[in-house]
Amino acid sequence: MRIESPKLIAALPEMGVELRPRVSLAEHTSLGIGGTTDLLRIHQHRHLPELIGLLRQEGIEHRFLGGGTNVLVMDGELPWVMLQLAAERNPPRLEGSVASVEAAADLGRTVTWCAKQDLGGLEGLIGVPGSVGGALRMNAGAYGTQIGPCVREVELYRAATGRLETLRGTDIRFDYRHTSFAPDDIMLAVKLELLPRPYAEILQGIRVCNEKRRASQPLSQKSAGCIFKNPPGASAGRMIDELGLKGHRAGDACVSERHANFFVNAGRATSAEMLALVADVRERVRAAHGVELENEVIVWKD
Ligand code: EPU
Repeated sequence: MRIESPKLIAALPEMGVELRPRVSLAEHTSLGIGGTTDLLRIHQHRHLPELIGLLRQEGIEHRFLGGGTNVLVMDGELPWVMLQLAAERNPPRLEGSVASVEAAADLGRTVTWCAKQDLGGLEGLIGVPGSVGGALRMNAGAYGTQIGPCVREVELYRAATGRLETLRGTDIRFDYRHTSFAPDDIMLAVKLELLPRPYAEILQGIRVCNEKRRASQPLSQKSAGCIFKNPPGASAGRMIDELGLKGHRAGDACVSERHANFFVNAGRATSAEMLALVADVRERVRAAHGVELENEVIVWKD
């Protein structure tokens, strides 16, 4: 979608919003798949309610993109504009063992920065690609760590009220890869309660997680991490693997040879190919096990 509204274009600089025309989502997502649209980069959170109000007035659909590491976007001309927070340049602020982190900050860098301050608790999340905001939104987790239990406070744009709000961690539900945030809430910043521990000890935990991840996941290939959630008490990866589906493909969309719950873009995969592979594998698992796998990846197709 092209932004053509003169009223909106004129208002953008005052709101600290930068217009990047004709951006390819294939270049902004870890899967390397997605069509083209105009991107609005937000440099000042406080103007978000005004910006979204104006988009609504002008009848312009919008979606919010975090790090682009857990999303499968349709191809072609996208019928919405993208909003994205400008990348964070300042390090987190510390008050005792509580770190205040911008949602646009890179999750991995945040984990290592905290470790250097002798603050642990997040080491399992090392290697989870994406932004802190995306991790919050999905309650990212790995190797026994989830971000949810560390959350003390969240600053966000709440779609329901159209306002910037602060929520206490205890008022947010964090479940397995699911939270009580609304789909169009926008995470802005978070206070994380960490565990004081010596750097060397945290570093050891980080190394162990990195090694496990390197051994079991296709890190050098384009993917969105795990495609399906694990069903209760089972592993989607193992189920797909046991059906002999590693290497199974639809065009250039391919079930990873290394981890069967990672679907990789092995060349120039289209979103239709990736969706066809997701549907095919889901159907085979349903037929074999009677289990309906639920997407872990977020799909934007209309
Ligand atoms: N397994 C296989 N074949 C495979 C993949 C896995 O047999 O192709 C077996 C493994 O050997 C293991 C079991 O399945 O016995 C579980 O595998 P793994 O330890 O890799 O964990 P997972 O349940 O597949 C989850 C998360 C990952 C996270 C890892 C590590 C989900 C959907 N996935 O994977 O998160 O990195 O644990 O904690 O919850 C993601 O969310 O995108 C993601 C990758």
